[in-house]
Parts: sequence; C-alpha cells; structure tokens
Amino acid sequence: MKIISSSSSRELSLKIAVELKCDLLDIERKRFPDGEMYIRILGDFRGEDIVAVGNTRNDAEIIEFLLMLNAAKENGAGRVIAVIPYFGYARQHMIYKSGEPISSMVMLKSVENFCDSLIVVEIHDLGTARFSRKGLRNVKIVKPLVDYYSDKKIDYVVSPDDGGLERARELSGFLNAKSFNIDKKRIDSRTVTMTVPDIDVTGKNIVLLDDMISTGGTIIKATNMLKERGADKVYVSAIHGIFANGSYNEISSITQDIVITDTIFGKWSKITVAREVAEAVRGVINGA
Ligand code: R5P
Repeated sequence: MKIISSSSSRELSLKIAVELKCDLLDIERKRFPDGEMYIRILGDFRGEDIVAVGNTRNDAEIIEFLLMLNAAKENGAGRVIAVIPYFGYARQHMIYKSGEPISSMVMLKSVENFCDSLIVVEIHDLGTARFSRKGLRNVKIVKPLVDYYSDKKIDYVVSPDDGGLERARELSGFLNAKSFNIDKKRIDSRTVTMTVPDIDVTGKNIVLLDDMISTGGTIIKATNMLKERGADKVYVSAIHGIFANGSYNEISSITQDIVITDTIFGKWSKITVAREVAEAVRGVINGA
C-alpha cells in the first residue's frame, strides 16, 4: 500500500503514512500556460493499493484530487481508496430553493467515479451517504477530544444546534459531563436565531462542540450567550476549522481555548485524525 496526498493535506497524510507504516509518494505539480493543473505521481505503485488523501474544500482542491485518483487508477494501482478529511460542498445536500443543484451529490459521484472506496471524516450531513454506490464510510472523531479535555473538569458539552447533539452527548459521556444543545433556527439566508435552554451554567466549564467553524458566526454567538449566562470557561472545539474571513482571532479573543483537528491543517490543529482514518483504511483493506 502507498499513500498520495493533495498539496493541502500533506501534514495529515504523513501521519496517516506513519500509522499505516507505508510510504507517501511524491507528486509533481505544475500549471500549463493556460492555467490548467498538471499532476504526475512519482514512483512505482503498479499493482499496489493506493490511499489518496485530499479535501474538496475549494475548486482547485477538487480538480487536484480527481486528477490524483485518475492518475492512480489509470497507471495500474490495485484498489484506490479515497480519503476526504474535509468533504466540502456537503452543506448543499438537498434542494432548498428551486433551481439549485445538490452539490454534495455532485461531489460524491464525481469522486466515486475514480475510486473503489471512499472514507470521509465527520461529513456535515450523513444524508449525503444516500448518493453513494460504494458504501461511504464516515469516520467519527471522539477519542482525541476525550484525551484533550479529560483533565479540564468539564461540566457541560454543548452543541450550537440540534444536529450536533449526538456528537456532544457522546463526548460528554466520556467526560462524565452533561450535554445540551442550543436551539438554532435559520429564518432566511441572512438571519439565524439562537436560544439557550433554561439550564443553569453559572460557574461551569463548557466545551462548545461543532462539526465545523466556517465564518465563526455560530461559535461566536454561542460563546457570548453562554458567557452572558455566567459560564466560567468556554472551550471551543470543532472537527473542521475553515475560519473564513480570519475569524480565528475573534474567536480566540473570547474563548478559553480553540481545538480543531488536522482535517484542514492550520495553527489551530491541536489534535490529529490520523489514527481513526488509518483504522478506517484497514477496515476497507480487510473488508470489515
Ligand atoms: C451548521 O449546521 C454547522 O453545524 C455549523 O454550525 C455551521 O456550518 C458553522 O458555520 P459558521 O461558522 O459560518 O457559523
């Protein structure tokens, strides 16, 4: 087995390679004069299984990843196992207004055209799995969060919306804490209301856990509401950290600490998903 990585997933891919005890192959990359992307996998991998790691967060990452998958398959790889740590375009997983596409379907079907198996990490909505013809595997990240927070005397794990309550519940169970969710309602594309339930959080230590931080609007509002209610320490955590518009600084100024995984690598990536991804790859290989 060998690993190939898109340019933005190298740090995580190196860790996955260590976990799986296999080599990470280099990739030559350049742009044609007209701007089109060129990639070429270096090294010999004919007949070997290839684990291809790459996000689909933006258009360039998508093209790079599809080219990588195709290069592996067309050059004689055994099984091609696609690993998408951050599956972008997952939020449009249904039609909200007539005339819209279902972006998550487009992404999933495009990737599955060029791979034998697909592994993702905490996809935004598991409903996307209904479009999969290859048994999409969604990796959950719990243990690294448990390890990080186990000595921090956490009283509550809070999800900023009901969709994340199960994730919060699971973590709170391991931390001997309680959990609840904030009631978040989208009124229209620009307006969201959030209501904290009537629970006394005065003097409590809270982990505010979301699947992703995009603009940071949700986490900032939730943090401020919990602090207004008298919470002592609010630790912010998410699986995927996008931090659009540089929102990291604002969030870090109002919270105790920010912990994000390395699905999207940045200075905030304090925990790794490498072990869980490697385990999922082994599951594919062993047919588990
Ligand atoms: C929403 O359903 C998600 O779980 C996140 O809460 C949301 O995507 C975060 O976005 P933002 O950081 O822009 O508020």
